[in-house]
Order: sequence, then structure tokens, then C-alpha cells
Amino acid sequence: MAEVRLENITKLFGGHIIGLKDFSLQVKNGEFVTILGPSGSGKSTALRIIAGLEHPDKGNIFIDEVNVNKHLPQERDVAFVFQSYALYPHMDVYENIAVGLRIKGCCKAEIQKRVQEVTGLLEIGKLLKRKPKALSGGQRQRVALARAIAKRPKVFLLDEPLSNLDASLRERMRTELKMLFNKLKATVIYVTHDQTEAMSLSDKIALINNGMLKQVGLPDELYYQPKDLFVASFLGSPPINTLEADIIGENALMCGKICLNISSDYRLKLKNKNKVILGLRPEDIKVYLEPKENTYLAQLILIERIGKYTILSLNWQGQILKAITERDFIGQHKRDSIWFQFDMNKLYLFDKETLNTI
Ligand SMILES: Nc1ncnc2c1ncn2[C@@H]1O[C@H](COP(=O)(O)OP(=O)(O)O)[C@@H](O)[C@H]1O
Ligand SMILES: [Mg+2]
Repeated sequence: MAEVRLENITKLFGGHIIGLKDFSLQVKNGEFVTILGPSGSGKSTALRIIAGLEHPDKGNIFIDEVNVNKHLPQERDVAFVFQSYALYPHMDVYENIAVGLRIKGCCKAEIQKRVQEVTGLLEIGKLLKRKPKALSGGQRQRVALARAIAKRPKVFLLDEPLSNLDASLRERMRTELKMLFNKLKATVIYVTHDQTEAMSLSDKIALINNGMLKQVGLPDELYYQPKDLFVASFLGSPPINTLEADIIGENALMCGKICLNISSDYRLKLKNKNKVILGLRPEDIKVYLEPKENTYLAQLILIERIGKYTILSLNWQGQILKAITERDFIGQHKRDSIWFQFDMNKLYLFDKETLNTI
């Protein structure tokens, strides 16, 4: 197990395409850290740089406080699990796992022991004689993981390892991965574009966009204390609702035709600003079938029943807001309109210019 530290890494492709820009990240011994971000944001570049498959233009990579910038991939003692699995097609499962150990210099008995151990752990012991083409996607994924675990590396690097699996298998494998790495107490850097995977698996999430780190912290910190609108919008499903508002007093906002009084804590923060963006998560919009104090009337334009919850789409002053309610809230009655309330304690305010959280 090991610590990994990236210090101010910049990587440009072809001199101008941003892979990473001034990217720093610290992963402690035994931590499960996820690099989360949209497609093309630099996640794979970060992993490949740690593995030594790509070289940074600027910055330093440390593994256990040793600068490994000039170390070859095989000298870094990391194991990479690729999205495509990257199994050798002509080798059976046993050989796919064994080959790396042989290169590492393990003896036959040790290889046998480790293959048995990992294939037992991942429940693929019956597949040892099969070639990759005779395996399902999920089984291939397990072999790729087994191969990485058998190496007993200092650090695991996993690049979207579940994204080629169908939805139900992905969910099952997610749980298994979590239990597996809890058991191994390994240092893991995991890459995904999937917020649910990131939220459920990670000790810490590093959210990245355009090669730049947006925020790093506990999953709940990113969800409940987002530094800016990008972070707030990336986490949460359906995403956070946003509305523009004008500042009309020390702690009063005008949102469309509605005046909202916000906490006086904002008094200083709103000084010299004219416009803000309000953010309210769908679970923080309360809906009512009858008018109540401080409720607003909205058109109900869509009802999505998704099992335990129902998602309502409301048209309010020409803008669409999504609210999550319990399953039977609407019942079987047809309705065109509904009343809702902002939970003012759960409201986020973002600077209209910088999009930073106020
Ligand atoms: N070998 C390469 N040559 C040119 N551009 C690349 C190369 N690898 C990655 N990029 C570019 O760098 C950016 C980050 O890519 P990548 O790290 O693969 O993103 P992600 O894994 O988050 O989808 C993208 O704009 C991508 O097109
Ligand atoms: Mg990628």
C-alpha cells in the first residue's frame, strides 16, 4: 500500500489540447479516491500519468514520497484496470493472471497460490481454462480485476471499470468492488463519469473539468457544500434546479415576480452584487395539493414514477423545476397544477458572474 501525490501536473496534447492543467491530488495510504468528471475532462490522463503511460509537461508525481517522474511503468508498482479489460485473447484465464506475475519474477508455486487466492476471491475459479472470448462482460471484468489484485501492487488504478457492463450487473459489481477493496484495505484511484458510482464507492471524490480540479473532499462535502455551480450541478439526480434572481435589498431577492427573504447571514456577501443564481435540489422543493403559506402555484407538466419516488416537473414563471416526492403523492388523480415551497434553509446562492457559491 502506498500514498500517491500529484503536484501541479500539466499535460498538453499536441501542444494545445488540455489533458490536465495544474492538477494536484493527494491520496493517502488505504484511501479509495475517485476522480469524477465528464467525458474528456482528463480523468484517464491523470491515471495514465500516475501509471507512467503518459508523461507530464510540468509537475511531479510521488509514490510514497519518491518522485517517480522518470520511473518506467513497471518500476512504479501500480496495477491498471482498463475499461476495455485488455485481456490477452490467446491466453486462458489462468495465463492472463499468471503472466504478469511471471514477469515480476514470482516462482511457479507462488503464482499458483496467488491465482487460486484471487480467483477464489472473485469467484472465477471455475473459469481458469477459458479464453476471454468464452467469457461474459462481467466475467472478463472479474479476470481483469483478479489480474490486478494478484500483482499485490502498491496502488490500484481503475479506469471506468464498470462502464461496459449492463445496468444491473454494474450495480452488483459496484457493491462487490466496495466490499472487495474494503477487505484489501488497498490504495485505490478510481476513475468514472458516473456520480452514483463515485458517491457510493469513495472515501474522497476529486471532481475535475477541463483538466482542472474543481473540488476535492468527502462525497457529502461535494454534495452539500459545493464550491460552485458546476460541482452543485454535476452531483445529484435529477440535477439541482437553478433560477436567476436580482438582489433588491440586504437580504431580499426578486425571483421573477416573487420576493424572497433570505438569511441575514448573506448580508455582507451580497454587497456589490446585482444578480445571483439560486440553486435548490429537487428533494428540497416541497409540494402541496392545496395552497399553504409561502407556497407558489405551478403548472404540473410531467409525472415520472420511478419506484419509491415520483419526480414532478413543474413550470413556474416559464422555468422548469423538478421536485422529488414520495411515490403516491399525486395518486391517480389528474392535475394540471400544484403548489410548492422553497426550503429557504436548503437554498444555494451562486454569483452570476463567477458561478462560485456565495
Ligand atoms: N493521445 C492523445 N492525443 C490527443 N489528445 C488527447 C490524447 N489523450 C487524451 N486527449 C485529450 O485530452 C483530453 C482529456 O482526455 P481524457 O483524459 O482521455 O479524458 P476522460 O478520461 O476524462 O474522458 C480530451 O480532450 C482528449 O481528447
Ligand atoms: Mg477516460
